[in-house]
Amino acid sequence: MNVQPEPTAEPCDPVQLRRAFGTFATGVTVVTVGGECPHGMTANSFTSVSLDPPLVLICVDQQAIMHRSLIECGQFGVSVLAAHQEPVARHFADRRRPLGAAQFDAVDWVPGRLTGAPLIVGALAHFECELWRSYDGGDHTIFVANLLAVRREPEADGVLFVRGRFRQLDRDGIDVADGVPAWQAAVRGGVTG
Ligand SMILES: Cc1cc2nc3c(=O)[nH]c(=O)nc-3n(C[C@H](O)[C@H](O)[C@H](O)COP(=O)(O)O)c2cc1C
Repeated sequence: MNVQPEPTAEPCDPVQLRRAFGTFATGVTVVTVGGECPHGMTANSFTSVSLDPPLVLICVDQQAIMHRSLIECGQFGVSVLAAHQEPVARHFADRRRPLGAAQFDAVDWVPGRLTGAPLIVGALAHFECELWRSYDGGDHTIFVANLLAVRREPEADGVLFVRGRFRQLDRDGIDVADGVPAWQAAVRGGVTG
C-alpha cells in the first residue's frame, strides 16, 4: 500500500536528531583508563565489531576528557552495567564529578589484570582492550580496539538507555524506571553525549 510519507525533521536539527537516535535502545557501559591519571566515562556507543579477531568499538566526543585519555593511554577497560548500577552511569556522565583517582571513590572497582584500568565491581561483563585503529567520526572519534581479556557475570540483569531515560531489564521484561530523564540530568550536570 502506498502511503504519504510523514513529515520529516531536518537531519541537522540536533534536538530532533538526538530524539531519533534515542529511540535505539542500548546497554550502558563505563569506559575507564588506568595509569597515573585514571579516568572513567559513561558510554552507550560500545559495540561488538568482530569475533576473529575479537574487536569492539566506542565513539567518544572529541571534547571529552576521555578522548585525550584514550589516545595517551592506548589501553582501556569496559564495564557493562547491571540493572542496579544506574547511579554509576549517572556518576560517570556527570561533569561535576572529581577528576583523577578521586572519581572512583564513589564505586567499588578492581584493576584490570592486563591494563590496570579500573573495572566496576558488579558489572555484567568486563572487557580489557587495546586500541587498534581510530577513525574520524565527525564531532566524535570511533576507536576500534582489540580485546585482551573478557569476564562475564552469567546471572545478572542489565540497565538500558532509551529515549533519554534509563530502564531496567528484568526476567519479566522491561521495567520502566521512574527516574529523572538523563537529558534533564545532563542539562543540570553538563552531560553532552
Ligand atoms: C547513557 C549515556 C551514554 C553516553 N554515551 C556516550 C558515548 O558513547 N560517547 C561519549 O563521548 N559520551 C557519552 N556520554 C556522555 C559522557 O558520559 C559525558 O559527557 C561525560 O561527562 C564525559 O566525560 P569526560 O569529558 O570527563 O571524559 C553518555 C552519557 C550518558 C548519560
